[in-house]
Amino acid sequence: MTEINRKEQDEYAIKVKELLSELYPERIPLAFVHSYGCQQNVSDGEKIKGMLSDCGYGFCTSPEEADIVIYNTCAVREHAEARVFGNVGALVHVKKRNKGMIIGLCGCMVQQEEITERIKKSYPFVDLIFGTHMLPALPSLLYKKIVSQKRVIDISEVSGEFHEGIRKIRDFSFKGYVPIMNGCDNFCTYCIVPYVRGREKSRRSEEILKECRALIEGGAKEIMLLGQHVNSYGKNLEENINFSALLRKINEIEGDFRIRFMTSHPKDATKELIDTIRDCDKVCNQLHLPVQSGSDGILKRMNRHYTYESYLELINYAKKEIPDISFSSDIIVGFPDELREDFEKTLELIREVGYDMLFTFIYSKRKGTPAAEMPDSISDSEKSARLRELLAVQTEISAENNRKKVGKTLKVLIDSEGKKGEGYLSGRSEQNIIVEFRGDKELIGSFREVEITKAHSFALEGVLKKG
Ligand code: SAH
Ligand code: SF4
Ligand code: F3S
Repeated sequence: MTEINRKEQDEYAIKVKELLSELYPERIPLAFVHSYGCQQNVSDGEKIKGMLSDCGYGFCTSPEEADIVIYNTCAVREHAEARVFGNVGALVHVKKRNKGMIIGLCGCMVQQEEITERIKKSYPFVDLIFGTHMLPALPSLLYKKIVSQKRVIDISEVSGEFHEGIRKIRDFSFKGYVPIMNGCDNFCTYCIVPYVRGREKSRRSEEILKECRALIEGGAKEIMLLGQHVNSYGKNLEENINFSALLRKINEIEGDFRIRFMTSHPKDATKELIDTIRDCDKVCNQLHLPVQSGSDGILKRMNRHYTYESYLELINYAKKEIPDISFSSDIIVGFPDELREDFEKTLELIREVGYDMLFTFIYSKRKGTPAAEMPDSISDSEKSARLRELLAVQTEISAENNRKKVGKTLKVLIDSEGKKGEGYLSGRSEQNIIVEFRGDKELIGSFREVEITKAHSFALEGVLKKG
């Protein structure tokens, strides 16, 4: 396995910058970077932008204006891959108008050899392909591409520790993504992530704390800790630390900010974690705990290592310890041979938990995973009908939960202009519920108290409190 040396990469960035200043003597070349998929990918996209900036690129907002386009891809479902193929296909016309343009693909999708083969054959205008492990080597790969004028492909796996030292260009100033680990060792039978992201690698707590402190000093109001499986944080580190201990350390940093995290796997989510959320004032009273299914038989075939009962026990403990806690989850509908009674257990569970939010997916076959080999007698139309049924039940639950918030005052982190039109702002409550209200754009990026006046299924409306 290769190793990537940061210092060497920084030297390559300088070399690329020199080459670019010869190629574009009159102007700064522009880059367009788009990340598909989860927040981890978005966070990787911030690193890609940092490295491109070190290489001398500025940024633009569409591929048409760009001298380099990088699509940071996702492979989690077929639909995600189809979108990437569609968008890459569309670049052929853009490249005809701008022959010197570099088109790069990276991320989870291209870490699969057969996908890279397909791109090689069917998308000859793609110049640069690098996998998830090679992301920190972008400056050297780009150098190779510019000098050789040939296509550069590298999807090799990299050994060593979590990669530090890459500057990020962040998408938000008041919200900071902080990766705490990479990869996944769980091998849920439906999931491609462990194959494309590799084994779990935790990041040293010192580095995480350093990044959090810098973010808060820079004005960030929310820290989002990222990992495919944050509950196994620390397992492969020399230091003796687990996820709860890390949360407690971040909570001690001074300042007015919130801490959220994603994603917590129910098999390792412990009462210690709930106690930590309860005790730490900055950790939001909100838990995204993807259950996937309510059927023990399906959970077993998914290789999830928990049951309906054990999941609910943890949820009930959390409800007891933190009365205003909010739950969200991911659900897969139509796992191979999911029977009607399996699906009904899922409906029963979501009613029992009373989630505020669900992210629902129809099972998508991922080549190379064990579930792809499982027989499946359920039709696509049946799966779609179940998804609709699930959404209808959840809409009712969310609406009912939201109705209970009318009349309350919530602390909201204002993150954008509202969808309701001119003069409206939108933000998130501690429980991660969207709140819309009238207010000045200048307030974006700050905390404000909002009195809730109206409830919708998936959002609240309110009035800004004075002060
Ligand atoms: N690490 C996280 C989830 C990562 S993927 C966790 O374990 O909770 C995000 C979500 O995508 C998963 O929770 C699952 O609901 C969904 N997903 C993953 N693979 C899928 C597949 N093959 N088909 C449909 N949904 C899938
Ligand atoms: Fe995929 Fe399971 Fe790992 Fe989550 S825990 S990334 S669902 S294998
Ligand atoms: Fe997709 Fe990779 Fe994230 S497969 S969901 S971008 S880890």
